[in-house]
Amino acid sequence: MNGRWDTKYSGKEYAYGEASNNYFKEIIDTLPPGKILLPADGESRNGVYSAKKRWTVDAFDQSKQAKEKAMQLAVKNGVNIMYKVIDFEEAKENYIPDYYDAIALIYVHIAHSKRTEYYKMLLSLLKSGGYIILEGFSKEHLEYQQINSSVGGPSDVDMLYSTDEIKTDFPELEIINLEQIEIELSEGAGHKGTGSVIRFFGRKK
Ligand SMILES: C[S@@+](CC[C@H](N)C(=O)[O-])C[C@H]1O[C@@H](n2cnc3c(N)ncnc32)[C@H](O)[C@@H]1O
Repeated sequence: MNGRWDTKYSGKEYAYGEASNNYFKEIIDTLPPGKILLPADGESRNGVYSAKKRWTVDAFDQSKQAKEKAMQLAVKNGVNIMYKVIDFEEAKENYIPDYYDAIALIYVHIAHSKRTEYYKMLLSLLKSGGYIILEGFSKEHLEYQQINSSVGGPSDVDMLYSTDEIKTDFPELEIINLEQIEIELSEGAGHKGTGSVIRFFGRKK
């Protein structure tokens, strides 16, 4: 895994662009700044955007190369982010419980059994009243990938999202928005074309 992502991030260009994800931006722009955690933040297009919006940013990713690109993007934008090179498995011991106002999972594709375990851990880090912001490819996205592989995303259906899974995986969250939609992606060379995504915005009661 490490090698694959390090290679993806080794180019000069940003794999998913330098601009934040549209859904993430749409939501973060409506929230008062606080403390945000971005797991699997990659080159930190969303972490850097949050810092520009005056959020205090903690981010992590298992790729060392991702962090290098993330820190360059932060410097370019004149902001500070706290970024650790760690795996999800190590996150619990690295962060403070009941601390974050928001946690964002943008295109975080991991096998479902592991994902549910990680969600529990992440929810323990979220304050009561805090938000989860998530966008990722849906299970139907496989059909879109067959038409256009440039749209990106994993080919293993178990790593893809469904609205039903989100409902069962986050029973303790109030659902503010949960939808599966077809969108046009233009996020660097990594996400280019029409795809099917799940968008979720939830609040911890
Ligand atoms: C599709 S990229 C998305 C990056 C970023 N969230 C974005 O939207 O630009 C997925 C990221 O998940 C990270 N990742 C995958 N498995 C991980 C794990 N077990 N622990 C930490 N990071 C992981 C990869 O290194 C990669 O940067």
